[in-house]
Amino acid sequence: MSWRVLRLEGVGKDFDRADGGVAQVLRDVTLTVERGAFFTLLGPSGCGKSTLLNIVAGFEGATTGGVSLDDSPVTGPGTDRTVIFQDVSNALFPWMNARENVEFGPKMARLGARARQELSEKYLRLVGLDADGGKFPFELSGGMKQRIQIARALANDPDILLMDEPFAALDAITKKHLQVEFRKIWNETGKTIFYITHDIFEALLLSTHLAVMTAGPEAGIKEIFQIDLEEPRTPSNPDFAALYSRVESLIDEEVQRMRAR
Ligand SMILES: Nc1ncnc2c1ncn2[C@@H]1O[C@H](COP(=O)(O)OP(=O)(O)OP(=O)(O)O)[C@@H](O)[C@H]1O
Ligand SMILES: [Mg+2]
Repeated sequence: MSWRVLRLEGVGKDFDRADGGVAQVLRDVTLTVERGAFFTLLGPSGCGKSTLLNIVAGFEGATTGGVSLDDSPVTGPGTDRTVIFQDVSNALFPWMNARENVEFGPKMARLGARARQELSEKYLRLVGLDADGGKFPFELSGGMKQRIQIARALANDPDILLMDEPFAALDAITKKHLQVEFRKIWNETGKTIFYITHDIFEALLLSTHLAVMTAGPEAGIKEIFQIDLEEPRTPSNPDFAALYSRVESLIDEEVQRMRAR
């Protein structure tokens, strides 16, 4: 499917709470993500980032407003979007080896054995695990499982990867490796990425666009940055450092506001 922009327009979300009340989570979120962009959401814990990602995924409906690809409304999950979860322990099928996990989507799409094998070889190589295709999830480290999850997502050839804190559960060194690798993968595949992180450094390293959210309830967009830092991006660059402090202070403001309530 060819489209140019993913559009969120006036998106609001209320949840019915277990106590009979209503949680007013999101209010009037409007933003556009150009095809090929690496768009990142940052914001205080509990503000509604995952909720917004779930709405884009089509897992949740918006209470007001909506999501569209150009002029086609998103009404549910679709093969044009794939979600990558933070929790790698449950993301892979434990009874399938790494290769079978990667080939699962193509198999569901009724691709033949030969075509599936080509895809799994290609994407296992891309994530640096071409020698580990025969291993089962219990034989893989957290970082390896996350790489397999990424390979599996790419093998489905979605237009958009929706990633909710994908590297948050990994140790610092593995995380750093995967950040660098994932930026290369994004470069090579040209996928559109909708990404959530709490890590400002990661956001500045990876993204083309960064949206800082306000604290909930009724969270919205506080500010959107287009990031065109000199490559390779490094925190020793004064522009990087300045943008880091700017974003950090915006988030601090929101955390203070939340605490003051
Ligand atoms: N199904 C639900 N029913 C009721 N309230 C919900 C539901 N899902 C989420 N919420 C509420 O919506 C708000 C936003 O949750 P969400 O998980 O989107 O936040 P988040 O920004 O992803 O937080 P974190 O950074 O901690 O992951 C929270 O107050 C949460 O309690
Ligand atoms: Mg979340």
